[in-house]
Amino acid sequence: DARTPLIAGNWKMNFDHLQAIAFVQKLAWSLRDARHDFDDVEVAVFPPFTDLRSVQTLVQADKLELKYGGQDVSTHVSGAFTGEISATFLKKLDAEYVIVGHSERRYRHVESDETIAAKAKAARDGGIVPLICVGETAKDLERHEPSAVPANQLRGALIDFKPGDEFVVAYEPVWAIGAGSPATPEQAQNVASVLREVVRQAVGDETAAKTRILYGGSVKSDNIVGFMKCPDVDGVLVGGASLDVDEFSAIARYK
Ligand code: G3H
Repeated sequence: DARTPLIAGNWKMNFDHLQAIAFVQKLAWSLRDARHDFDDVEVAVFPPFTDLRSVQTLVQADKLELKYGGQDVSTHVSGAFTGEISATFLKKLDAEYVIVGHSERRYRHVESDETIAAKAKAARDGGIVPLICVGETAKDLERHEPSAVPANQLRGALIDFKPGDEFVVAYEPVWAIGAGSPATPEQAQNVASVLREVVRQAVGDETAAKTRILYGGSVKSDNIVGFMKCPDVDGVLVGGASLDVDEFSAIARYK
């Protein structure tokens, strides 16, 4: 397979740096005990900015193969932008990824498709792989096909992207986030295949074949296998279940 599955844990606004250290150590031990092959299934955590340095120190000191990234990024490189974190800062922390366009940013922080496109571009330009989130609300479903809103969001986010650019897409139906009831694998696959077509139109066949599309929304160790069987689903973005180290480890060891 051209696409290495990615198991991503978005901690959202949880854990302090001591909890982050304890979590990463326990996760690393658990995956080591299981002889987890990180080349076979990539694992990444997305701590709050204030925990990133601690995670970096631990990953580098213990030579862990765990990847990590930020939960958001500024559209700017530097300057008078109080409270913002640039891709340059994330790069200096050796972050691999950054989440952009999470539904909590789109809807609670009113981020537009233009803002999200600018963030994805800023990440790419700064050498960080953007993990671009898209997904429809329950209200969107009353008026549109399930894939219509996510496809539009993705088209908007990829406006400045070209063949060869690396990015990850996360399809997260907003109605399934934190809901305890995920989409069915069939629903996830249907939208993911449309999203791959959007990627193809934006950056061509070769890049589309390499681009990972994740599913997110109430993923747990007891439902991940169904999603991973979908031909266009290449991993998961986990929220709530990524805060329980045993559960997140079990998700990463889904195979
Ligand atoms: O970023 C993660 C998603 O919002 C999914 O959250 O696993 O708690 O439903 P959840």
